[in-house]
Amino acid sequence: MESNDLENTDNIKDSDIVGARNCSNTVIKVEDKVGRLLDQMDIIINEFRSSEVYQEIHDQWQNNPSFRSNIDRVLGCNSKILMVIYALGSIESSYRSQVQLALAILLKLDFSHWLSGIEAYDPVISVTDAKVMEALGCSVLSVNEECRRLVDKPTLFYMPFANTEHMANLLEANWCPSRLNQMILLATSFEGKIKSWRKVDEKPWEPPFFHHGLPTRDYLVVRERIDYIEALQKHTVEFAMTGEKKAYRNSLYNFSCHFLDLDQQLDMASLLPAGGGSGFLKIGTDGSSDFLKTGNGGGSGFLKIGTGGGKGFLKISTGGGRGFL
Ligand SMILES: C[S@@+](CC[C@H](N)C(=O)[O-])C[C@H]1O[C@@H](n2cnc3c(N)ncnc32)[C@H](O)[C@@H]1O
Repeated sequence: MESNDLENTDNIKDSDIVGARNCSNTVIKVEDKVGRLLDQMDIIINEFRSSEVYQEIHDQWQNNPSFRSNIDRVLGCNSKILMVIYALGSIESSYRSQVQLALAILLKLDFSHWLSGIEAYDPVISVTDAKVMEALGCSVLSVNEECRRLVDKPTLFYMPFANTEHMANLLEANWCPSRLNQMILLATSFEGKIKSWRKVDEKPWEPPFFHHGLPTRDYLVVRERIDYIEALQKHTVEFAMTGEKKAYRNSLYNFSCHFLDLDQQLDMASLLPAGGGSGFLKIGTDGSSDFLKTGNGGGSGFLKIGTGGGKGFLKISTGGGRGFL
């Protein structure tokens, strides 16, 4: 193993470690890092346990009757709920991820009567991260599920500051009442997310064509994925956990627990814009031309912007051949 490999522990394989055990400093260095990170996590977990933020969360989970009855509904005839963490980041390189992990570890310890275990995946989790997380009782997955795990038992997905696409992947993969009703989503407040995207929607074309830090084209792609969250709004019960509190703001800003409660007979396709034949927003390439279209899905009334074979165009129409620009 090159000494450079020590800098990037992602590249260290178990076989390297076994081979190096008795004859180099490599293992000592990795084990040193693990030891130091475990000490650091210990401090953070203890500090966080005694914080007001965690005390309030604990009180909500323990004593809020509505929260408890949603847990019982998700449990059904099962005795335990599995916790799956996606998008934690690397605890080795981020204090934010350390605090986010501390929350998971404490919840698992304090609610072990209904939380069965923790599985975690993030492509940036390093060997050191994985060893520390395993020492803290998590099982680190090696397979990238693209956040599309099919839910066939009660599962709490903890996705701290996950990208919208990943949350949409999870909802899309489980787009039926029997699966969605078995899920709890601990993530950035859906209500907050929808509110902030609606603000952007009001002025989607405003220069300099950047929204939420994304160029407009990317914004539109993400905007479409928000439909999955928006579609469930009426069927979501949200419990604010951290809100906008100053303490731990950078690590846990506006986290909520979301429970989904859908009628088993609900027509899921009708919840999404494309399925309902109502408004749509599309961006893509069509043969040789890039396009952006928004419409009401009924064939009339549309806005198109395209390069149309080299010639840029903008069309706005009310449909039926009448009223256009
Ligand atoms: C916005 S960051 C949040 C990281 C961290 N929780 C934080 O608050 O700083 C999104 C995270 O999603 C992770 N990610 C990307 N693809 C993923 C996947 N397929 N499954 C799980 N996590 C993924 C990224 O590596 C990144 O750490």
